[in-house]
Amino acid sequence: MPNVLLSQDGAVATVTVNRPDKLNALNAATLDELDSAFREIEAAESARAVIVTGAGEKAFVAGADINELAQLTSIRAKATARRGQRLFRRIELFPKPVVAAVNGFALGGGCELAMACHVRIASENAQFGLPEVGLGVIPGYGGTQRLARLVGRGRAIELTLTGQRIPAQEAWRIGLVNRVVPLEKLIEETGKLVGAMLRNAPVALAAALESIHLGLDMAMEQGMVLEANSFGVVSATEDMREGMQAFLDKRKPEFKNR
Ligand code: COA
Repeated sequence: MPNVLLSQDGAVATVTVNRPDKLNALNAATLDELDSAFREIEAAESARAVIVTGAGEKAFVAGADINELAQLTSIRAKATARRGQRLFRRIELFPKPVVAAVNGFALGGGCELAMACHVRIASENAQFGLPEVGLGVIPGYGGTQRLARLVGRGRAIELTLTGQRIPAQEAWRIGLVNRVVPLEKLIEETGKLVGAMLRNAPVALAAALESIHLGLDMAMEQGMVLEANSFGVVSATEDMREGMQAFLDKRKPEFKNR
């Protein structure tokens, strides 16, 4: 795939948006390739977590490709937004942890891609923003929905209506990113965080992700039932028996995703 690199190191798959000369802007071909990459990772039993990043040191993703957006009719623009929304929702609901390693500009669709990931680690030089209103449009890949859920309505409205970029530290302060690290340590620190997740039972990680994401769209009582049902399901897995037995045996568990 020319626009998206897919690699795997042990249990960790890395998806790199690879159009550095266009600051990794998301054109239609890149969205298709991202879709393929996530399908491949979902099917690969050996891949248990995903890191999403951008090629080069300047940008994670500088947004949807403005050359393409400029050509869209109203109906095609709606279809384009729905296409991007579906892909990003797939990433949000992905059954394996997805961590964004944000290595520079995360603007527009890039900020939306980062927000669709489960956790965001930013390099010190990263910048976040939703500049769409300056182009006469609005965020169309879930940005109007996810930013408010992540940082609260007031801050989301301020960022969306000003279109201003904020540096990584400010993004951390308002809860848009989980932590900020020096650029040269970004992949190492992201790997450490993913490693901490991967010490745990894959079936439990998938169940926790599902319960959190679906539960956020439910009333509390329904969310509680979802959680209890999921707790019941994971309690019947081999990984649950292994986790409990390993604790009782005072040894490290060996999970098998079963
Ligand atoms: N779509 C298409 N091309 C983009 C792009 C985007 N979203 N963002 C950057 N590029 C391209 C530039 O057109 C330029 O291409 P060129 O060399 O062929 O002219 C190249 O990437 C480098 O960008 P440039 O603007 O020269 O870099 P810069 O360091 O001066 O500025 C930004 C960096 C991120 C501030 C600036 O590129 C920018 O504002 N990009 C658009 C961000 C945006 O509005 N995104 C939301 C889209 S809905």
